[in-house]
Amino acid sequence: MVPLGPLLWARQSLLSLLLLVCCLLPPGAQGQASSLRVEPQDPVVPTGGSLLVNCSADCPNPSQIALETALSKELVDSGLSWSAFQLSNVTSDSKIICSSFCSGNQITSTTGITVYRLPERVELAPLPPWQPVGDNFTLRCQVWGGAPRANLTVVLLRGQKELSRQPAVGEPAEVTATVPASREDYGANFSCRTELDLRHQGLGLFENSSTSRQLRTFALPMTSPHLTAPHILEVGKEFTVDCSLDGVFPVWKAQVHLALGDQMLNLTVLRHRDAFTATAMATTREEQEGAQIVCNVTLGGDSRETRKNVTVYRFEEPMLYLSKDSVLEGTMVNVTCKAGTRVTVKLDGAPIMAPGQPAQLQINATESDDGRNFSCNARLEVGRKILHKNRSVQLSVLYGPKIDRAKCPQHWMWKERSYQVLECQARGNPAPTMNCSQEVSKLNVPVGIPFLVKLYHNGIYHCQAVSSQGMTTVEVVMEVQDWNARSVTITMAVLVVLGLVIITAALLYVFGVPKRSGMYHVKDRSTSLPLTSEQPDGLAGEEPS
Ligand SMILES: *[C@@H]1O[C@H](CO)[C@@H](O)[C@H](O)[C@H]1NC(C)=O
Ligand SMILES: *[C@@H]1O[C@H](CO)[C@@H](O)[C@H](O)[C@H]1NC(C)=O
Ligand SMILES: *[C@@H]1O[C@H](CO)[C@@H](O)[C@H](O)[C@H]1NC(C)=O
Ligand SMILES: *[C@@H]1O[C@H](CO)[C@@H](O)[C@H](O)[C@H]1NC(C)=O
Ligand SMILES: *[C@@H]1O[C@H](CO)[C@@H](O)[C@H](O)[C@H]1NC(C)=O
Ligand SMILES: *[C@@H]1O[C@H](CO)[C@@H](O)[C@H](O)[C@H]1NC(C)=O
Ligand SMILES: *[C@@H]1O[C@H](CO)[C@@H](O)[C@H](O)[C@H]1NC(C)=O
Ligand SMILES: *[C@@H]1O[C@H](CO)[C@@H](O)[C@H](O)[C@H]1NC(C)=O
Ligand SMILES: *[C@@H]1O[C@H](CO)[C@@H](O)[C@H](O)[C@H]1NC(C)=O
Ligand SMILES: *[C@@H]1O[C@H](CO)[C@@H](O)[C@H](O)[C@H]1NC(C)=O
Ligand SMILES: *[C@@H]1O[C@H](CO)[C@@H](O)[C@H](O)[C@H]1NC(C)=O
Ligand SMILES: *[C@@H]1O[C@H](CO)[C@@H](O)[C@H](O)[C@H]1NC(C)=O
Repeated sequence: MVPLGPLLWARQSLLSLLLLVCCLLPPGAQGQASSLRVEPQDPVVPTGGSLLVNCSADCPNPSQIALETALSKELVDSGLSWSAFQLSNVTSDSKIICSSFCSGNQITSTTGITVYRLPERVELAPLPPWQPVGDNFTLRCQVWGGAPRANLTVVLLRGQKELSRQPAVGEPAEVTATVPASREDYGANFSCRTELDLRHQGLGLFENSSTSRQLRTFALPMTSPHLTAPHILEVGKEFTVDCSLDGVFPVWKAQVHLALGDQMLNLTVLRHRDAFTATAMATTREEQEGAQIVCNVTLGGDSRETRKNVTVYRFEEPMLYLSKDSVLEGTMVNVTCKAGTRVTVKLDGAPIMAPGQPAQLQINATESDDGRNFSCNARLEVGRKILHKNRSVQLSVLYGPKIDRAKCPQHWMWKERSYQVLECQARGNPAPTMNCSQEVSKLNVPVGIPFLVKLYHNGIYHCQAVSSQGMTTVEVVMEVQDWNARSVTITMAVLVVLGLVIITAALLYVFGVPKRSGMYHVKDRSTSLPLTSEQPDGLAGEEPS
């Protein structure tokens, strides 16, 4: 401050001196006092440009018209009262002074040259890679160079829309604006533009733009994804996991991961508006306790995650086996059912064992055990859920052959020329074959199927059941009745004799008891006679068939 005092004083005294000189000069001399003109007045030139300056005096005989400047100059032309100078390489604002002598008096005139320069660099600072919707972000533009600064404006733009307009101040000039991010800003191009407005100077508006930067905005709700997964998983079995979340923008950019423990799951993602559903189908290979299914969603560097505890268990069907699948009757068979540790097995008829212990049953194989199914039920408790698995096995007992008396009658009485079935069943495993043949002639009779009975079928048969386990035989008598004409007459004769005997007995009774009338005898005869005669008729009708 101290050095300013004398300086200020000096200026003030200079100014008073000038005023004094002015006032002292005669008014005529001042009015007549010729002037010196500098053209153009207050020119604006591009940096490094050149300019033609004309200094003209309006006094009759001016002498020594000169131009005082620091710039490189060249006298290009001159007239009686003027001189024209070419100024070149104008790189900065400067003042030029024209001077001349008019009637021995020096006169001067000055003007300022303004240099204009377009900015060297206009740059919009990088935008955040991802901007959450609803949060403010800052646009920052830097401008290097550019003159005159008073006429330089910086405009921040979203697409073509102006967001802010500020003067460029400082070097580099920095302009900022805070803008709230919206969904619509996703993919929007932000840029910065400088405007050098020299329209007043008759030069126009010069614009320069930064390269644009694209913004990516996103929205991720505070809620965690919704995870649907079974809480128990069986090793080797396919399971499905769903993970969904709504309110995600842009949903197509969201990255979804589903993992079981450290096993990444392959998933398909369905998107609808702002919601997605990721579905994975997977199988687990190893048993693990306290595993977790994780679903995480990553978007714009932010993420949401949901975890679910799962138990991966192994539960194989119980092993059920017989000491021998096929046994002879009367042998001991062991039925054993085994399963993994922690599994409880229950075998029909066997005592219930502790988890992990096999269940065993011992039976003396009987005929009735042939084809018997033994079933074993395995039970495992996983995550408060009880699971069951069953397995059964069939026992085959070799026995027989045996022929049931009830199913193989020993005596048959058949009429000749009638169709009959010889029933004789045998049991056994393997199933025996049955064969009935006549004792003497070795004639075979089909068993179980109808056949036409002939007289020669009469006789004793040996019905034999045969299987790999042995054979058994029963004797069956087949009696065939002959129905030829002679036997008919014999039967008729027998009937006639029988009739006569009855009549005689009746007559004796009637005569012995006088109250009775003879009408009954006549009736008896008449009823018995058609009876005897009907039978040959029936037979005669049957014969042709
Ligand atoms: C300089 O100015 C004078 C007077 O105004 C004029 O006559 C002359 O032509 C001008 N010279 C040039 C080169 O413009
Ligand atoms: C213009 O002037 C600058 C300094 O102001 C100088 O460095 C440059 O060489 C000049 N250019 C010409 C063409 O004279
Ligand atoms: C500014 O814009 C002009 C045209 O208007 C161009 O010639 C110049 O190279 C631009 N400058 C920059 C730094 O982009
Ligand atoms: C964003 O900026 C505006 C002012 O520019 C302010 O009112 C608003 O609270 C800001 N929002 C947030 C989320 O910071
Ligand atoms: C440019 O700047 C000059 C002085 O610095 C001022 O007079 C003029 O009005 C400005 N022009 C514009 C368009 O701002
Ligand atoms: C932003 O610019 C890129 C190329 O630079 C263009 O593909 C995209 O469509 C522009 N975005 C908008 C919203 O105009
Ligand atoms: C996931 O899918 C890829 C190809 O689609 C396949 O190669 C890979 O084996 C799958 N992984 C699982 C665990 O299924
Ligand atoms: C999402 O899960 C995957 C797989 O588990 C993991 O690699 C990734 O780091 C997780 N991302 C986040 C943000 O937790
Ligand atoms: C999941 O298991 C972890 C231990 O592995 C336990 O800390 C957590 O509480 C369990 N979460 C649920 C929901 O049971
Ligand atoms: C099995 O039963 C048969 C007859 O029922 C008997 O003869 C045999 O001794 C029994 N076998 C055993 C090992 O008890
Ligand atoms: C059946 O099991 C008993 C004991 O459980 C054993 O002594 C016997 O040898 C087994 N029999 C067979 C045929 O495996
Ligand atoms: C035993 O099980 C088999 C099928 O496994 C079935 O066909 C058969 O009828 C069953 N036998 C009995 C006696 O239940």
